[in-house]
Amino acid sequence: MDKTIETTFPVHELIARRWSPRAFAADPVSSATLGSLLEAARWAPSCFNEQPWTYLVATKDDAEAFERLASCLVDANGWAKAAPVLVLSVAQTSFARNGKPNRHALHDVGLATENFVLEAVSHGLVSHQMAGFDVERAREVTGLPQGHEPVAMIAIGHPGDPAALPAPLAERESAPRVRKELQQIAYGSRWGDPAPLG
Ligand SMILES: Cc1cc2nc3c(=O)[nH]c(=O)nc-3n(C[C@H](O)[C@H](O)[C@H](O)COP(=O)(O)O)c2cc1C
Repeated sequence: MDKTIETTFPVHELIARRWSPRAFAADPVSSATLGSLLEAARWAPSCFNEQPWTYLVATKDDAEAFERLASCLVDANGWAKAAPVLVLSVAQTSFARNGKPNRHALHDVGLATENFVLEAVSHGLVSHQMAGFDVERAREVTGLPQGHEPVAMIAIGHPGDPAALPAPLAERESAPRVRKELQQIAYGSRWGDPAPLG
């Protein structure tokens, strides 16, 4: 399904085409492609070049590994088990250099993950990030070391058939994509002043 957005100002097609579907085809994602997605994440910028991200990757080629991550999903995200790949993003919350809290750790994991999901679009893949998983369970079953926080689960795969989803999800799949207006998300240098957009 093409959900390419219309924008007031032009944006790169990878941004315009990315969206978060719930329908995934069963086709696997090659390890070479997964490598490209992780490379894209790897080259994200980060505060002090700390690179506070780690990605735990499970494919259906290893049923036990896949189930480890899948078992953490809340029921409402059960559709994600149809994806051939599940990933858990993890943040290291303190600087390795001095042990001080890294206030930008989650920000930087988000940057890396956006690289990851946009790279996925460039390979004809779709992805869907999820907060809906049992964080404590994820911590336990993956053996996360201290100082590391589970951030988001990501389902990745080839686009699937929305008609194969249960009715309420199929409806949501075709719903228009919505966003706040530019004027609501950008101001001038004083809160509430209009941004300099001409
Ligand atoms: C950190 C994060 C957590 C999210 N958690 C969930 C989730 O648990 N379940 C779900 O169906 N969608 C989840 N989403 C997807 C958002 O609902 C989706 O990105 C948003 O509605 C915008 O739609 P779009 O990605 O298609 O543009 C999450 C997205 C992000 C970035």
